[in-house]
Formats: sequence, structure tokens, C-alpha cells
Amino acid sequence: MSKPPSEASRPLGIFDSGIGGLTVANAIHKLMPKESLIYFGDTAHLPYGDKSPEAIKKWSVVIADFLIKHDCKAIVIACNSISSVAFAEVKKHVGKKAIVINVIDPVVNFVCDETSSKHVGIIGTKATVKSDVYPKKIIAKSKKVAVTSLATPLLAPMIEEGFFNNKISKTIINDYLSRAKLKKIDSLILGCTHYPLIRPEIEQYYKGRITIFDSASIVAQHVKDVLENKNLLNPKKARKHLFYISDYTASFEQSTKIFFKGKIKLEQKNLWK
Ligand code: DGL
Repeated sequence: MSKPPSEASRPLGIFDSGIGGLTVANAIHKLMPKESLIYFGDTAHLPYGDKSPEAIKKWSVVIADFLIKHDCKAIVIACNSISSVAFAEVKKHVGKKAIVINVIDPVVNFVCDETSSKHVGIIGTKATVKSDVYPKKIIAKSKKVAVTSLATPLLAPMIEEGFFNNKISKTIINDYLSRAKLKKIDSLILGCTHYPLIRPEIEQYYKGRITIFDSASIVAQHVKDVLENKNLLNPKKARKHLFYISDYTASFEQSTKIFFKGKIKLEQKNLWK
């Protein structure tokens, strides 16, 4: 491949409503350690999953503008709720200024092309489940697959508040997963970027009976493929990663430190003042 153009050293923008997108950012960082990351968590408006598509669209384009101002070469919408209802809007808004990637298409392609799953379950926020994006995309790609989705609205706020790996999270997770709707599934998509943080508890519930997919590593690989294809992988060393939140929360700071081992600069930035 020819020498990467100078745009390759521009940062990679990633955003979510809160800490969930850090699961994607972490997977991207592990796979492409040379990429400089700019992360925005809209903690002031969290949870997005309970908000209207109009509100989610309105906030998402403002965040996209912020990442464009930071000269991002690509923007990863590391949130299923935003990807479900606002991907087209953000993509149109950004135009040719940056590549825009959502978290749903790479997962749908992976599940349909690379697995033999016959009945896929999806858990996600109300916004994601209500949009019906996963079932529509999966059925359009593979007629033989049955799809069942269940909204699990307590999970993202629970995780955001630091409740995982304890009695409370176990009770809530088990209540959702034991619903009749999910009885016949042979695989489960964790359709919210917060959920990799409770993946061990979900695995404990199923004890290997079904296959579990989460977006973090699948999306990271997709981002790498896209950048590689366009010769936009950063050939140099990453600059300092920047993390912004619209409202300070201790759990965000703690999670960022866990994922990025203390090398972080966290700044509060209210884009709506
Ligand atoms: N992490 C997000 C998602 O993937 C949103 C959670 C929320 O803010 O409700 O849907």
C-alpha cells in the first residue's frame, strides 16, 4: 500500500451517551494503538435510550460538529440508540468532512455472515428496540433467521451508576433474561454498548447454552478495515487521547481510568450552554 496521506494522523472521534462507548473505544485502542482518540460522553442527557428520536438526533449532530471541529477523520457512533435513530441524520450532517460509522451494521453483518445462528435475540434500550433496526436489517440479509428483541431499559442506567457484578445487577439481569420472549434464542446480541460491562453476568446466566455477541471487538475490527481500505491508519504514534463529558460523573472518570489505565485527560464540556 502507498504511503498514508497526512489526513491519516487526524484523530478518531467516538461518542456515546456515557461510559458505554468506552467499551468500543477500548477495543479500538487495543486493536489500533496508534490512533489518537477523542471521546465525547453526553452524560448530561443520559440515558439516551428513553429519549425521543428527535432529541437524540438534535444532540448527536451537535456532538458530531464538536468532533469535526477537533478535525476527526472518522466518527464512530459508539451507541446503539443513536445508531438506530440518528445515523442517517449524522452522516448527512457530517457529509464529506469525516467518515461516519455506526455500531449496528458491523454486528448484523457478522451475525448473518459468520455464524449459523437460527434465532437471534437482541437486548437493548427502548429507543433501539422500538426502532426495529436490528430485526429489519437481519431479516433483510438472511431470511432463515428468526429475531426476537427485548427492551431492557434498566440496564444502561444501572451500569452507568456502577452497579455491575453485584446482587442488584444479577437480580435485574436474570429477570430480563428469563422472560418468555427470549426462551427459544440460540444467540444474543448485546445491543447496547454499555452491556459488555455485564457480559460476565450474562454469560453466567446462560452457562454456554447460547452464543453472545457484543459490538466492541466487532466494531473495532470494522473501523480498522474501513481505515485500512482508505489508507487512513495512523502510521505515527498516537497523541494524547482526549475524553470529554457534558456533565461530570465520578463513575465516568472511574471507568475511563479502568479502560485507559490512568493515561487520560478528562474534561467537562457543555455543548448546550
Ligand atoms: N450505550 C447506549 C446504547 O448503546 C445508550 C445507553 C443509554 O444512554 O440509554 O444504546
